[in-house]
Amino acid sequence: MPSPAKLVLGMMSGTSADGIDAALVRISGAPPRLKIRLVNHTQQPFPPEVRKEILRVAEQHPLTPAELSQLHTRLGQIYAQAALAACKKFQISPKKINFIGNHGQTVFHQGRSSNFLGKPVASTLQLGDGSTIANLTGITTVSDFRPADMALGGEGAPLVPFADYALYRHPKLGRVSLNIGGIANLTVIPANAKPSEVSAFDTGPGNMLIDALVQELTDGRERYDKDSRLARQGHLHRELLAFLLREPYLRRRPPKSTGREYFGAAYVKKILARAGRYRLRPADIVHTVTVFTAASIARALDRFVLPIAKISQLIVSGGGAQNPLLMAQLSALLPAIVVLPSSRLNVPTDAKEALAFALLAYETFHRRPSNLPTATGARGPAILGKISYAPLR
Ligand SMILES: Nc1ncnc2c1ncn2[C@@H]1O[C@H](COP(=O)(O)OP(=O)(O)O)[C@@H](O)[C@H]1O
Ligand SMILES: [Mg+2]
Repeated sequence: MPSPAKLVLGMMSGTSADGIDAALVRISGAPPRLKIRLVNHTQQPFPPEVRKEILRVAEQHPLTPAELSQLHTRLGQIYAQAALAACKKFQISPKKINFIGNHGQTVFHQGRSSNFLGKPVASTLQLGDGSTIANLTGITTVSDFRPADMALGGEGAPLVPFADYALYRHPKLGRVSLNIGGIANLTVIPANAKPSEVSAFDTGPGNMLIDALVQELTDGRERYDKDSRLARQGHLHRELLAFLLREPYLRRRPPKSTGREYFGAAYVKKILARAGRYRLRPADIVHTVTVFTAASIARALDRFVLPIAKISQLIVSGGGAQNPLLMAQLSALLPAIVVLPSSRLNVPTDAKEALAFALLAYETFHRRPSNLPTATGARGPAILGKISYAPLR
């Protein structure tokens, strides 16, 4: 007998640390026949002092174990409050929600192992305590999705390809799903693909460099380049673009993943120093870095995807899908591919990743694996996450 549909609230807060995206999703069935319907979605910004602390910690600045523990619980409270605020906005009682899938805030991620205390260790840390969320909302919560995959030798990332495959696989069309968050990552879904034919990797920076430069160049007045307003007042500086395109990460073969550890504050300093030599105006810097971001994605497709798969559509989600210059550049650099926002396939661009974590929680609840070993490199399927049960009513 098919199990009854579940209402799942997925929550995502990515490397941009801009806030929490929440998606309420009605899910039924089981792979390969999952039925997924987005009911509603919303966003909530982090309070500025919380955002500042997240960025500080994610940039690997020192903090005490006490502060780390406090931040873990404090974020649990913030996610719980975001979940309740989302319910209120959706005019649905939290009692109606079967469970929450919360990604949490990554403050450290090392997918490949290095030696630690005598053994190779790969590890990851997403903050936002699941028990806190479950007990403050009264909704059973799945959290900590990444470590199970890593324990099986995977990189613990990317996990969204499971959802990309469920949402976008097509019998005749080869598709790439691209999410432009702080980091940009893509999932390759060849026409009529089996799960084992799906691959995925991080292409490099998404909005991360643009955001950091805009904040720096506006003395913190602007947090990001809304609608590419600043970039559109500037021009492309070819030498700076050529310099940026020499970035070795772009040439590395997939599977590969990256984050704020790599494209963070030190990287931005390097760009500013170069731009200073050319005496560029802020608008020229932001314009050139926006073009670079698009070019890094297009080159990843040209180098690593198009030689092995026939792709007709690039489906874009994440905040970067709302950056018009970034989208226009992608279309221009990939003339043989139709570039379209995921909203055209009924997945709002700012709900895709939250929806993915609702789906992963649904799978975990049913004791089914939801990593794609071809995407993460794990030895086999893993049931992801930890379940924190709601208090008895
Ligand atoms: N209207 C817009 N114009 C330009 N950029 C935007 C717009 N809306 C969102 N963004 C970009 O999207 C980012 C947030 O993207 P998001 O998908 O939430 O990333 P993450 O998953 O890393 O949190 C913002 O920091 C900003 O750079
Ligand atoms: Mg975000």
